[in-house]
Amino acid sequence: MLMNPVETMLVDSAPRAWLQRAYELPLLHRLGARISGQRVVEVGCGRGVGAELLLDRWDAAHVLAVDLDPAMVERARRRLARFGPRVEVLVADVCELPLDDGVVDAVVDFAVIHHVPVWRDAVAEAVRVLRPGGQLVFEEVTRHALQRWSYRTFLEHPEVDRFSAEEFADALVDHGMRLPVPPVTRFFGDFVLGVAVKPAPTDPVPS
Ligand SMILES: C[S@@+](CC[C@H](N)C(=O)[O-])C[C@H]1O[C@@H](n2cnc3c(N)ncnc32)[C@H](O)[C@@H]1O
Repeated sequence: MLMNPVETMLVDSAPRAWLQRAYELPLLHRLGARISGQRVVEVGCGRGVGAELLLDRWDAAHVLAVDLDPAMVERARRRLARFGPRVEVLVADVCELPLDDGVVDAVVDFAVIHHVPVWRDAVAEAVRVLRPGGQLVFEEVTRHALQRWSYRTFLEHPEVDRFSAEEFADALVDHGMRLPVPPVTRFFGDFVLGVAVKPAPTDPVPS
């Protein structure tokens, strides 16, 4: 589901970019995100601030940045043009990524999957495109936030079957991912951040 004009304004703001750069990136790094030299797909890239950070700060080898909204893709393309062949920006649905199975080292989700009506399909698709040993790095918005008066009044999200932090973590495990470090919640449980790993076939099965 696309953002409404109020959310577009909030997401396209300097405070949002600051939050991603100064708070979310260091926290995700502490939780185990390792992107340097990796082939990454960033889902729901918006205007491209996240992809820019992945390339500049985390030194990703290549980022495929996708968004459902062609206007966002156009803006991200302009922002990311300076990275040349290290980046590609496409209109695509996180539930139908234009990638073969197991071809990326990392999938990065900055606040996108809560916008997807059948959100478990987005989780399944992220797992599909990851190589064994690859990471799903996420910052998500929980049901706790979406039920707030402010979210319901000013923003638009799918209304049924939203997830708590625990349900999001459980869905990752249900799709075969491991959580070496437990995800963390922030702001009274409104946000959940973490790093899930797709096990390699040789990994020991947890007891
Ligand atoms: C809350 S914004 C987050 C944007 C950016 N990642 C950030 O953190 O600032 C959600 C983004 O997800 C995109 N989006 C929503 N549903 C999507 C889907 N099914 N597939 C890909 N992108 C989607 C929206 O167009 C929007 O750009």
